[in-house]
Amino acid sequence: MTGTDNGTTGSGGGQERPIVIVGASLGGAKAAEALRGAGYQGGIVLIGEEHERPYERPPLSKGYLLGKDSREKIYVHPPQWYAEHDVTLRMGTAVASIDLAGHTVTLADDGRVEYAKLLLTTGSVPRRLPVPGADQDGVLYLRTAEDSDRIRAALRPGARIVVIGAGWIGLEVAAAARTSGAEVTVLEALELPLLRVLGREVAEVFAELHREHGVDLRFGVKVAELTGDGGTVTGVTLADGTTLAADAVVVGIGIAPATGLAEAAGLEVDNGITTDQHLRTSDPDVYAAGDVANAFHPLFGKHIRVEHWANALNQPQTAARALLGQPDAVYDRVPYFFSDQYDLGLEYVGYVEPDGYDQVVFRGDRAGREFIAFWLSGGRVLAGMNVNVWDVTDPIRELVRSGRVVDTKALADPNVPLQEL
Ligand SMILES: Cc1cc2nc3c(=O)[nH]c(=O)nc-3n(C[C@H](O)[C@H](O)[C@H](O)COP(=O)(O)OP(=O)(O)OC[C@H]3O[C@@H](n4cnc5c(N)ncnc54)[C@H](O)[C@@H]3O)c2cc1C
Ligand SMILES: NC(=O)c1ccc[n+]([C@@H]2O[C@H](COP(=O)([O-])OP(=O)(O)OC[C@H]3O[C@@H](n4cnc5c(N)ncnc54)[C@H](O)[C@@H]3O)[C@@H](O)[C@H]2O)c1
Repeated sequence: MTGTDNGTTGSGGGQERPIVIVGASLGGAKAAEALRGAGYQGGIVLIGEEHERPYERPPLSKGYLLGKDSREKIYVHPPQWYAEHDVTLRMGTAVASIDLAGHTVTLADDGRVEYAKLLLTTGSVPRRLPVPGADQDGVLYLRTAEDSDRIRAALRPGARIVVIGAGWIGLEVAAAARTSGAEVTVLEALELPLLRVLGREVAEVFAELHREHGVDLRFGVKVAELTGDGGTVTGVTLADGTTLAADAVVVGIGIAPATGLAEAAGLEVDNGITTDQHLRTSDPDVYAAGDVANAFHPLFGKHIRVEHWANALNQPQTAARALLGQPDAVYDRVPYFFSDQYDLGLEYVGYVEPDGYDQVVFRGDRAGREFIAFWLSGGRVLAGMNVNVWDVTDPIRELVRSGRVVDTKALADPNVPLQEL
């Protein structure tokens, strides 16, 4: 463990009760930073069950996985930051339960920490593959830095890597594996990669991208069993009887929000911890942010849960201000995410539910993978994704936020500035 561990127990060292943050990753660390940034001078206890001080996950499937980014580059703050900002960092410490009435969290080692306000940034956990043989060595998931180290060790030139799930994890790992010289097969239950996020029109671009890079893509398949030898995976059997040899299997079939603590405590949970637009949960002294929060979004008029980096980066600022009693702290940012695969870089701004659009408009060179795709409903832009085109997220965000009906011919025309639509 790096950083400080003052071992705060009881009532925050005998003084005022501290603000306690459970979950010490991007969301938790940014919340501590935001509290200090807002001028809060009381105690902050940041508790995380991982042993590493807070780090960011995007490099784990990209530069860090490829060995290009060093471990030092993944951390949210340098080790001394926590002591310098008087943040008590308790890593390697799982919170076992929350007593809402007593304003106390109990740790897995039976310690207790009282809180004045509590912020839950417990994130999410990978869904496990529910088939025989899935618990063998060589069946790998990707959530933590250690997971990324394990996968990196498997990506040797010529190694046979089977990736299950063609979502963001599956495709980014497939790209890293091909770049490392491994032979890659991707098995996806649906007909295309990223289908539920991007829809058919844009999903096809990603199928093409990976095919061109030599990935064997198999869609509409069902994994029946992982075969093995002496407890180590050696292959995958599909429901139609097809068998594939594998030196390692990487599973990326989605995540589930880590709501167990909240649910057991009696907080309202529905596809994540339910919060209002201030990120306050059903208990007025408890807030939630990041992957785990299903937050009411004023722009969309509904609760949404966003499983992306920018949300875990920005929501904590709102949660911090709200729990310090600032009534204007409302989270209404338009969701944003990015991905890198081979030489394709993309940014996406907006929010579209599966089948929630009626038209896709392309601007630029789709075949050459240098374009912007817009998803529309009733002539209004719900989201835009720029692929190998840069510095356009601000005007796209503005289009989404405005909700105005646009001229789709002008939208498709690269000569019309986005600001003029
Ligand atoms: C490999 C990978 C690559 C990604 N790449 C991108 C990308 O390119 N772009 C993008 O937009 N998004 C990306 N994401 C998604 C992004 O990383 C997540 O949205 C973000 O990590 C969410 O942050 P969080 O702090 O809310 O939760 P998490 O990062 O899940 O952190 C939650 C923390 O809480 C801890 N915790 C949980 N329960 C307890 C408990 N009871 N007691 C103590 N601690 C607890 C966990 O151990 C964990 O450390 C990627 C995710 C992964 C896994
Ligand atoms: N660039 C990014 O934004 C980025 C990168 C990596 C990870 N992440 C985040 O990490 C989380 C996990 O990513 P993920 O890729 O695991 O989830 P995902 O939800 O993006 O994709 C899961 C994929 O697995 C498929 N699938 C589900 N069950 C299957 C099965 N039994 N067999 C075959 N296919 C199956 C789904 O149809 C889907 O295509 C997500 O929250 C994601 O947003 C984001």
